[in-house]
Amino acid sequence: MDITVIGRGNVGGGLADLWERAGHRVDRLGREGGDAGGAEAVLLAVPGDAVEAALASVTGLGGKTVLDATNLYGGARPPAASASNAEYVKSITGGPTAKVFNTNFAALFPLVAGARATPSNLWAGDDEAEAVVARLSADAGFEAVRLGRLDAAAVQEGLAGALIAITGAGLGLFTYRMAPPALL
Ligand SMILES: NC(=O)c1ccc[n+]([C@@H]2O[C@H](COP(=O)([O-])OP(=O)(O)OC[C@H]3O[C@@H](n4cnc5c(N)ncnc54)[C@H](OP(=O)(O)O)[C@@H]3O)[C@@H](O)[C@H]2O)c1
Repeated sequence: MDITVIGRGNVGGGLADLWERAGHRVDRLGREGGDAGGAEAVLLAVPGDAVEAALASVTGLGGKTVLDATNLYGGARPPAASASNAEYVKSITGGPTAKVFNTNFAALFPLVAGARATPSNLWAGDDEAEAVVARLSADAGFEAVRLGRLDAAAVQEGLAGALIAITGAGLGLFTYRMAPPALL
């Protein structure tokens, strides 16, 4: 696939490396912005309070499938009174949208491919985004597990604080797996 990542740091750069290794073509945009008109999928991986500015700096986003990996910390709220950053993204782009990759630690991306059990990657979003979420999760070494539709994105954004708390409570960085009994 042709993928544009907006934000080329830990998450955007880390996933871009994995996706290129899986055979995708990735265009990496930073805060200078650019054009996403040729992309089949867009990853948004900028600081959670920079989503509005980041989208404003990129052209060609109309109707695109967007995977939003952002998290909000310290009481920051989504722009324009949206319920979540992901729903704000959808209000701007109008295309299939998913909240995904916000509940996995980028520092572990290089280790996921060799994991004994495939880690899960929670996502919440539009049905039309499901195939892209499943494929790009798999190509990064994860199995996508659906949490809900796009109106559940706020719940998924809220999980970030719990993940950070778990690391601090003694486990350190971790992956997780959610699977039905038949797959245990
Ligand atoms: N790190 C993790 O383990 C992790 C896990 C899950 C979710 N997240 C979430 O994923 C997002 C990215 O995290 P990260 O760790 O990858 O951050 P990061 O390493 O600091 O990278 C941030 C990227 O966003 C770009 N950026 C910053 N301000 C911008 C703006 N106003 N407009 C456009 N682009 C801007 C930066 O551009 P330049 O390259 O030009 O500096 C940089 O490429 C955050 O929302 C974070 O909460 C992080």
